[in-house]
Amino acid sequence: MAAYQYETHEYDVVVVGAGGAGLRATLGMAEQGLRTACVTKVFPTRSHTVAAQGGIAASLGNMGPDSWQWHMFDTVKGSDWLGDTDAMEYLAREAPKAVYELEHYGVPFSRTEEGKIYQRPFGGHTTEFGDGPPVQRTCAAADRTGHAILHTLYGQSLKNNAEFYIEYFAIDLIMSEDGVCQGVVCWKLDDGTFHVFNAKMVVLATGGYGRAYFSCTSAHTCTGDGGGMVARAGLPLQDMEFVQFHPTGIYGSGCLITEGARGEGGYLTNSEGERFMERYAPHYKDLAPRDYVSRCMTMEIREGRGVGEHGDHIHLNLSHLPAEALAERLPGISESAKIFAGVDVTKEPIPVLPTVHYNMGGIPTNYWGEVLNPTKDAPNQVVPGLMAVGEAGCASVHGANRLGSNSLIDLVVFGRAAAIRAGQVVDAKARNGELNQASVDKAFDRFDGLRHAKGGTPTAELRLEMQRTMQADAAVFRTDKTLKEGVEKMTDVAAKLDDLAVTDRSLIWNSDLMETLELTNLMPNALATIVGAEARKESRGAHASEDHATRDDENWRVHTISRVVGNKVDLEYRPVIKDPLTTEAEGGIDLKKIAPKARTF
Ligand code: FUM
Repeated sequence: MAAYQYETHEYDVVVVGAGGAGLRATLGMAEQGLRTACVTKVFPTRSHTVAAQGGIAASLGNMGPDSWQWHMFDTVKGSDWLGDTDAMEYLAREAPKAVYELEHYGVPFSRTEEGKIYQRPFGGHTTEFGDGPPVQRTCAAADRTGHAILHTLYGQSLKNNAEFYIEYFAIDLIMSEDGVCQGVVCWKLDDGTFHVFNAKMVVLATGGYGRAYFSCTSAHTCTGDGGGMVARAGLPLQDMEFVQFHPTGIYGSGCLITEGARGEGGYLTNSEGERFMERYAPHYKDLAPRDYVSRCMTMEIREGRGVGEHGDHIHLNLSHLPAEALAERLPGISESAKIFAGVDVTKEPIPVLPTVHYNMGGIPTNYWGEVLNPTKDAPNQVVPGLMAVGEAGCASVHGANRLGSNSLIDLVVFGRAAAIRAGQVVDAKARNGELNQASVDKAFDRFDGLRHAKGGTPTAELRLEMQRTMQADAAVFRTDKTLKEGVEKMTDVAAKLDDLAVTDRSLIWNSDLMETLELTNLMPNALATIVGAEARKESRGAHASEDHATRDDENWRVHTISRVVGNKVDLEYRPVIKDPLTTEAEGGIDLKKIAPKARTF
């Protein structure tokens, strides 16, 4: 057994991760007087939410008529009928409240002439249950909305006495013999000390796992740490095969160009200068949902109408927009286009390509953020002491495809919901329980094994192999053949975790070891993604199979539940929740409006 000294900390709640969801949960917990710690591997305002550009969806109706029912309908359709109806209702209903709270906390939203929060159009957001014109629903702070939200929530959390443990890496969850989460074991990166957090509730807000792919808009820190810890605790992941490609990553660098660019009037063209989205989506055009636009772009390139020397990308045009509008509404992407593509957006188009952006799947939860461990008889069984929110979780509101700007609202609505629920289930007066020492020891043993790994495969080499395999075989379009080969390759790649070579054995700022721990988190996420994709014999949302081109609601309107052990993945399926929170008589949505139908644009 590895012998590491550690300090023990006791809290009511420990939140792991300080992005939008983690900070909103932290703030909500602290506001209620719960003793709350937020443990984060990066400084809070460097969390990946800082990169969120275009905005946050809520039916405020500041720019024209809107309603939460229309928002819910768009989310249901956007999800390609894989989202859980109760969670989607909760999101759409609570969204305006959550945004006004942000406003009151101090988020510096852009404003209309009358001083209301400015809202812009985003893909898939419509009026009249999809029959009316696009709606301006996405509340924006120029094109730096995530930045504005993150800074505000961090300040408010400090004001409410939340305690921050910054640059602490969470190694593993502490689980009792009978499956209760009791805390988390952490490594402090800057001084090499160890910290065991004993908590009545652990909230995983660790973000997505975009870095399982070669090219993505996600920060290098997006390594699926929560999913990795959950998988090692014997708990499942859900709907991992649904990986969102954002239509407009800058060609080459993958850097995000917000969908807000098309919301403000930008459009895509092919090598013939054609606005091709008008052909594919006569009603929604460039503002069709992301999965659809990404597929259309890929088809244009495949059919020989891509732009550039190799005909392998597409143009995003903004130069027809007034320079003042670009400076006021899209300053961030104007700068990114200059830096990463050498393009002056007032004069030239930006070269763009669909780029991995978001994971619809994650740790299964209910709409309170409580983690689920589904069985056949109890598909909604809760894991005591454990919550997951934000991109790490899967509530599931995005189902098979997320609408743009539904991510920031997911972060704050469900971060807030987790705090409300914790206020109900955490007894602040009770003493913390005794930790399962075997679980603590197991975390240190794993850490020590990796620290002294003497195999033949350097971490960076194995990570690249994983990223290239995922990029090639779990792409925008998938076939039975590529997925089968991908599963075989990824099974071999994952087996090489047993042959890792770590060269630096120190404990202070050991990035080799930290990246190794991150790789052990990325791997189960990646493996579950490709195995889930290979098994799903239909096309739905972001999972576009060339061999099974249509959606099959009879057999596949189910959540994929994957349990990863080593390089093996066991799959089960869990029913989609079809009942809303409220009936039409109670003011809820007319269920006929959200009955499954063909998804056309
Ligand atoms: O395009 C964007 O601004 C990204 C927004 C989102 O992913 O929700």
